[in-house]
Amino acid sequence: MTDHPRPMMDRPRRLRLTPQLRALVRETTLDAGDFIAPIFVTAQSTTAHAITSMPGVMQLPVNAVAAEAEMMAQAGIRAVILFGIPAEKDATGSDAAAPEGIVQQAVRVIKQAVPELVVMTDLCLCEYTDHGHCGIVNGTAGHHDPHLPEGYVLNDPTLEILARIAVVQAEAGADVVAPSGMMDGGVGAIRDALDDAGFLHLPIMSYSAKYASGFYGPFREAAQGTPQFGDRSSHQMDPANAREALREHALDIAEGADILMVKPALAYLDIIRVTRDAFPELPLAAYNVSGEYAMVKAAAQQGWIDERRVVLELLTGMRRAGADLIITYHAKDAAAWLRG
Ligand code: PBG
Repeated sequence: MTDHPRPMMDRPRRLRLTPQLRALVRETTLDAGDFIAPIFVTAQSTTAHAITSMPGVMQLPVNAVAAEAEMMAQAGIRAVILFGIPAEKDATGSDAAAPEGIVQQAVRVIKQAVPELVVMTDLCLCEYTDHGHCGIVNGTAGHHDPHLPEGYVLNDPTLEILARIAVVQAEAGADVVAPSGMMDGGVGAIRDALDDAGFLHLPIMSYSAKYASGFYGPFREAAQGTPQFGDRSSHQMDPANAREALREHALDIAEGADILMVKPALAYLDIIRVTRDAFPELPLAAYNVSGEYAMVKAAAQQGWIDERRVVLELLTGMRRAGADLIITYHAKDAAAWLRG
């Protein structure tokens, strides 16, 4: 008989003894270079405006976006994604496809100031239409399909507009276009239009599995894109569906998507994982959306959570689930924290 307790065979704590050992065996990395930082650019003001439900995020006038982009690049961030708030909205979202539209202006300014920064453009109509929908609505703009309900977002008439917007964004200098409207055939229509216009080299990051989510609330304040009637459930995915995400990704890949996306991130980590496993050949982005950001900010402001710790834990979780890239409003803060 020995007076020691029976030695345990396996002692995982051996590898947790020092920070150096822990770092050595860390499975998942998080780096500022993994982040895509959103920028909201507005034509409605010449000064920056805070977004109440997204503390720390601003709507910026065109003359302020270059400085913001420079700060992001200096923090080690490689890519930004632009969202525009036009001066005027109408039934077809004309500003989105105008060569002097707000996003096109911002792209030019950023590419001139920080040429090495990858500039992505969100490609959708909801910020540009007066009804706040992501496309041509049945019963408006000379379109009427008697077989579909009034207010329904018409698929094919919308594709023509998306294709035009893609070319205008590319002509302005966008490095990647990112269709976010979940229209059937959207990626294919955009790919064809880009190719016809000579932009064969320009990648498409598709919001390929985008769910109809309550977590977009603060974004809709930020981008002023709240639907004036109805919701987005006839094109965005049902939160209850996982297998259907694989169908959406597969279609977008067949149509020419270069980067896939799962959106939102936190309630959909399982979707990120199945996507990574099913389509290992494509880069995958997770969109850490506005409502997820707002929840963390609100709890941190109350002193209920340690913001830095929680943000880095959440972003690491998204990477661990299988995301290569993370679109996040925490990008600037997280980049600074990661530098220590
Ligand atoms: C559509 C778009 C939305 C978001 C990104 N692109 C809004 C929507 O689908 O209603 C939401 C992003 C977020 O909540 O952070 N242009």
